[in-house]
Amino acid sequence: MICEKPITIHDLVDVVVTVLDARDPYTFAHSWRVAELSEMMAERIGPRKEWVERIHVAAHLHDIGKIGVPDYVLHKDGTLSPDEFAVMKTHPVIGHSIVSKLAVLEDISLYIRHHHERVDGKGYPDGLSGNAIPMGARIIAVADTFDAVTSHRSYRPARSKEQAFEVISACMGTQLCEECMECLLSMKDEIGPILENVNAEVDLAVREGRIGRTIKSFL
Ligand SMILES: [Fe+2]
Ligand SMILES: [Fe+2]
Repeated sequence: MICEKPITIHDLVDVVVTVLDARDPYTFAHSWRVAELSEMMAERIGPRKEWVERIHVAAHLHDIGKIGVPDYVLHKDGTLSPDEFAVMKTHPVIGHSIVSKLAVLEDISLYIRHHHERVDGKGYPDGLSGNAIPMGARIIAVADTFDAVTSHRSYRPARSKEQAFEVISACMGTQLCEECMECLLSMKDEIGPILENVNAEVDLAVREGRIGRTIKSFL
């Protein structure tokens, strides 16, 4: 039987997320937390609901290019060698090339491409600096860094939220956008309960086999 219901952008985004979930469970939970933090920051920085929602989607997809990173790098226990790190650094460009196939996701594909740029121009892939980096990418970079620091990885233990604020405050104006950092710092008291909520939802989604059905239905 052929289903005549039209395929929506939301359906397609869900499929792409599901593929990465299957490949890398850490990225699944990480992307969900980064999406919630990015949305909260975007709400404070820009009032347009549609823009906030697109940043939420971009944050869910920000590491989607890791689909193209080989297992020996993606799943390595321990610190990456310089050559392995160079391979890992291809993921924003791979993510951009996947998502930009859909013209309606062009802005989102650029937030993905630029989420590892640094405001001092020393990031990758294009070495953009300051306001040349789209605001969506700067927001995701702050949320991404905060979540990476507070997550347990095989090569280092998780740090507390307070330690994470210290670590990333030191990156203000060099790696991370000052406006976005100040926004995150202004949310200090709300972050803990929100992330606990997300982690509980992720656990439930995994138990119920709903991995991948994480994008809100606004597209
Ligand atoms: Fe990334
Ligand atoms: Fe990430």
